Amino acid sequence: MSRKTSALPLNLPVPAGRELYRWIYEELRTAILDGRLQPGSRLPATRDLAETFRVSRPTIITAFEHLKSEGYVEGRVGSGTYVSEVLPDQLLQVRSTRSAKRLPHRRMPLSSYARRLHPFFSATAPRTVRAFRANQPALDAFPTTLWAQVAARRLRRVSSTLLAGGESLGYRPLRQAVADYLNTARGVKCSAEQVLIVSGAQEALDRTGRILLDAGDPVWMEEPSYPGAVRVFQALGARIQAVPVDEEGLDPELGKQRCARARLVYVTPAHQYPLGVTMTLRRRLALIEHARRSGMMIFEDDYDSEYRYSGRPVPALQGLDRSGVVLFAGSFSAVLFPALRLGYLVVPESMVDVFAAAGSVSTHHPPLLEQAVLCDFITEGHFARHVRRMRELYAERLAVLLESARQELKGLLEISSVEAGLQTIGWLQGQLSAERAAAAGAEHDLEVIPLNRYAWGRIRRQGLVLGFAAVDPREIRRGVDRLAAALRSLRQGRAH
Ligand SMILES: Cc1ncc(COP(=O)(O)O)c(C=O)c1O
Repeated sequence: MSRKTSALPLNLPVPAGRELYRWIYEELRTAILDGRLQPGSRLPATRDLAETFRVSRPTIITAFEHLKSEGYVEGRVGSGTYVSEVLPDQLLQVRSTRSAKRLPHRRMPLSSYARRLHPFFSATAPRTVRAFRANQPALDAFPTTLWAQVAARRLRRVSSTLLAGGESLGYRPLRQAVADYLNTARGVKCSAEQVLIVSGAQEALDRTGRILLDAGDPVWMEEPSYPGAVRVFQALGARIQAVPVDEEGLDPELGKQRCARARLVYVTPAHQYPLGVTMTLRRRLALIEHARRSGMMIFEDDYDSEYRYSGRPVPALQGLDRSGVVLFAGSFSAVLFPALRLGYLVVPESMVDVFAAAGSVSTHHPPLLEQAVLCDFITEGHFARHVRRMRELYAERLAVLLESARQELKGLLEISSVEAGLQTIGWLQGQLSAERAAAAGAEHDLEVIPLNRYAWGRIRRQGLVLGFAAVDPREIRRGVDRLAAALRSLRQGRAH
């Protein structure tokens, strides 16, 4: 049992015509059931209680003995009495009825935004990585010692100016470092003034939605799509218009047919999420042209596109835009580690002020020390080295996945050979259902996500999302073997 001492100042109401020990017993029991006295915490000493409430010590001891005999507390009088770690079920029921009586359940009026909110959990469970965990980089390969050195150096030299806080657009030297990186490595055309540092691409989405959308505004979404983006726009009351993705990416012609005047479009052109296709130049130009003519803004999510294994690097769509219709977002979650919660958003010059104002009334800015450490990590060259190293590691893991799948999954699952990113798609053969395949996979200790969970309409092909970046080659081979067994048994079940 963890021995926490309760610092709780026990405020017990004065009794009215009851036996003193019974009164003390009931009040302590209520404090335990209410959670004011937490499991494991030490009850105040009998002597102190006796003094505080002007009762004799034996009265308090009798109350304690009663609590002990019923399982509320443990320990010996004299060496400390502690609230039991596990209260019997029947006691927990007492607790719920009692608190229900005391706190009548009033339905609080919520805003329409709150009523439209659906929780979105992108974080993966913090346990051993199994095949085929998606959305996660190889965290065991992250250079934590190096990061700690950079952070320690920065902390030793920290100035009071930095401790005082900064601009809501982010730490200026980091904005410059990100602008330099994006101009050289991603073909983005921007100055540091246009770069905002945010708490991940998710915040970039939320802030953009709040600034650009009113309830009822139509938004084109790639289908299938990143569910975290769908949740943001739904919560704002936007009208989501699904635009299917084919091997060239989102088709603006289909978008126009379905909804000619959308306010915003969400795209992942470098590496479509979750299918992995790269949007062709033809489609990119057509999308920008339509946006320019119709007044639609483009949200380009560049999440995880640093990792390109084959094909030519594809410059960002933002770099093709001459009329200021693109907002470009990226994140350090997939490149460094998700807990960092740092990302960036590049906005057209004319929108910098409104984004700065929005930041100033919410988080103000993401933690400045982390921003400064990240800035050092980039400018000292560690970032580029890490990306290079991870690119090689992930290319190797993708090759292992493709090779084992070629040997083991023939006729069951056809794996797309993606050119970039942390995951790929396995297309189910022979009309197997993705939901049932994922359930069978889970029984074989595998993590596979059915593709239909990324779509809200009907999806034509049955596929599974398979992550490979976070999974080591041995586990990939085990995963392919187990997946083959799971799919075979599913197929046999169908045949019977
Ligand atoms: C396509 C895509 N965009 C954005 C995000 C959000 O990333 P961040 O962790 O930077 O908020 C994710 C997270 O998984 C993602 O997959």
